[in-house]
Amino acid sequence: MKKITSVLLASALLGAALAGCGGNNNKAADPANTGTAPNTANSGSAETPKVGVAIYKFDDTFMTGVRNAIDAAAKGIATVDIVDSQNSQPTQNDKVDLFITKKYNGMLINPVDRTAAGVIIDKAKTANIPVVFLNREPLPEDMKKWDKVYYVGAKAEESGTMSGQLIVDYWKAHPEADKNGDGVLQYVMLKGEPGHQDAELRTTYSIQAIEDAGIKVEKLAEDTAMWDRVKGQEKMAAFLGSHGDKIEAVLANNDDMALGAIEALKAQGYFSGDKYMPVVGVDATAPAVQALQDGTMLGTVLNDANNQGKAAITLAALLAKGETPTKENVGFDITDNQFVWISYKKITKDNVADAK
Ligand code: GAL
Ligand code: CA
Repeated sequence: MKKITSVLLASALLGAALAGCGGNNNKAADPANTGTAPNTANSGSAETPKVGVAIYKFDDTFMTGVRNAIDAAAKGIATVDIVDSQNSQPTQNDKVDLFITKKYNGMLINPVDRTAAGVIIDKAKTANIPVVFLNREPLPEDMKKWDKVYYVGAKAEESGTMSGQLIVDYWKAHPEADKNGDGVLQYVMLKGEPGHQDAELRTTYSIQAIEDAGIKVEKLAEDTAMWDRVKGQEKMAAFLGSHGDKIEAVLANNDDMALGAIEALKAQGYFSGDKYMPVVGVDATAPAVQALQDGTMLGTVLNDANNQGKAAITLAALLAKGETPTKENVGFDITDNQFVWISYKKITKDNVADAK
């Protein structure tokens, strides 16, 4: 946690420095510009474009990786002002208003609530400032509102399927995994934030993959732990309290929750002697990779923070300069003129190097 805090602090300071001396996040700054829409915002100048970046909250392990990737890839192509929406949509809307007031040339938004993207698109369109969304996919009807709206993300279904397959591989290789020998896989599910495409689809598709492999399943418990490690630990402790040794597998929608579950399992004597529990997550964060190497986490799915951050800022910088993004200038395939999809990858102890 300490390490994360200092990274946050460092990038907050960097963000402030990059934003220059123009009052930065002070809402009251530059009152002369409030109220009117600056249609000159995207003038397609040859200078380095200014891109306002709003992250849903800085205190999120995976998004911290994406944020660092944006910052690194921005060098030489855009000046970025990266701000924390503190998990509040009203706060994020204020940040967007400020980006518009400051006449930034482009915006890169990781929505707090993906259904709020429509409002942000309306504001962006009025001000003629192109916007790239990231990690939380706007609804299809919102994506259709303007052609200068893009989305960079990963197919949630794919990560769900892969995490289910990790459990399938384990189950097939280890007959003893069926602890009560009833031929049914008793599992618990730790869900991310309800309504988030990654939480809903990973939950559905992971179980689908297990069933598609011909394995019968029984859900003992499912609850949201909001992508959070501490909440993951608490929910897993509660699951163990009510179902104990009946649990045969733990599926978590992300690594932080899986790592929290591992803590709760350790407290009940798992991962010592022959007491084992298969636990899978998604993201392949550094602590998860460590857990794979330690043998506590069975597997995870690489959610490619580096390429998501790189594609998003490259796209935003091009749009901010008034250029048309193509596969050649972005360096990534563009689907339906508005989407860049970054692939997931299954990660286990055997290929951890691929996640680093
Ligand atoms: C997911 C990721 C989670 C969390 C979430 C935030 O893609 O797997 O760990 O960061 O995004 O929206
Ligand atoms: Ca069983």
